[in-house]
Amino acid sequence: MGFVPPPYPYDRLDELGAVADALDGGRVDLSVGTPCDAPPADVVAALGGSGSERGYPASIGSAPFRAAAAGWMRRRLGVDVDEGAIAACVGTKEFVASAPQYLHLRTPERDTVLYPAISYPTYAMGATLAGCRAVAYDALDDIADDDAQRALCLWVNSPSNPTGELTDLGAAARWGRARRVPVLSDECYVEFTWDGPPRTILEHGTDGVVAVHSLSKRSNLAGVRAGFYAGDAELVHYLREVRKHAGFMVPGPVQAAAVVAYGDDDHVDAQRARYRARLERMRAILRDALGIDVPMPSGSFYLWAPAPGGDAWQLTKRLAADGGALVSPGEFYGPDGAAYVRIAMVQPDDRIELVARRLGL
Ligand SMILES: Cc1ncc(COP(=O)(O)O)c(C=O)c1O
Repeated sequence: MGFVPPPYPYDRLDELGAVADALDGGRVDLSVGTPCDAPPADVVAALGGSGSERGYPASIGSAPFRAAAAGWMRRRLGVDVDEGAIAACVGTKEFVASAPQYLHLRTPERDTVLYPAISYPTYAMGATLAGCRAVAYDALDDIADDDAQRALCLWVNSPSNPTGELTDLGAAARWGRARRVPVLSDECYVEFTWDGPPRTILEHGTDGVVAVHSLSKRSNLAGVRAGFYAGDAELVHYLREVRKHAGFMVPGPVQAAAVVAYGDDDHVDAQRARYRARLERMRAILRDALGIDVPMPSGSFYLWAPAPGGDAWQLTKRLAADGGALVSPGEFYGPDGAAYVRIAMVQPDDRIELVARRLGL
């Protein structure tokens, strides 16, 4: 049988969404990780002032776009990357979903995408869309030799969506280099690292590794679709050339806005404070109202909450029915996540307080 797209995970919450909607004040959506806070006004203004509408934008990203990305990595991540080894993507989801097919075209004798067992679903979907094998791993040491030999790439995601854990990126880079497997490091939550400074795989050199970055979370710009990938010069060159042919282009006005966003860190520091406070507040709500102890994540804006009795759907239903809060059962991120729920801190404080009141606090 041909490919039938599986139900989109969040569509499976429609019924519970209706339950939450029925409460006075409506649903408080903490399921999809879509930012709710405003992007900086000058970034939004730049969308309208670039004069770049009439011509095709550079698929690889304009020179100012790539310079802004390089400057941001230098300032915030402490790494110097050549602007020739940086290229734009239309937000990072399309890059995650499409990279395996391009790697497979180049290396047809390899057919496997390795990805963390509890993770953002698009890593596995990228393998499926390429007609390749998606093989989940718990730890690098557990990856079978045969799977490593067949691997087109290894995905890492630090801080992790959904667990908030940090990965040993140096170990991942070494693992890939030893086996000649490209390591793709999704770092879209890097500036929401709580345990220590932000970390990038590029600290460990660029050979055989590509870091993937997004403005969606950093600057509350999920709606404008901008990100970039950077690292191994040869791999970035291959991907940017093939992606030119495929027609991937970040719109010119978006590239202009991205330059402004990557040039400013103050708004990100303010956003960090907001997420941190919401994470702490929601931890207190879960503890005081439901007796659930959730650790502070090492990074990201998600709480990864153990469900009482390991029953994530029951906790999801309870939060929807009693709190009007929509959250994501952990199975959305792989079978190993089935005993947890993910709670995204993407609602304003007054909406989170509404959940607290509904739960009796
Ligand atoms: C781990 C991870 N990677 C990539 C993305 C995609 O983000 P975008 O396509 O908006 O850059 C997301 C979005 O939620 C994510 O959680």
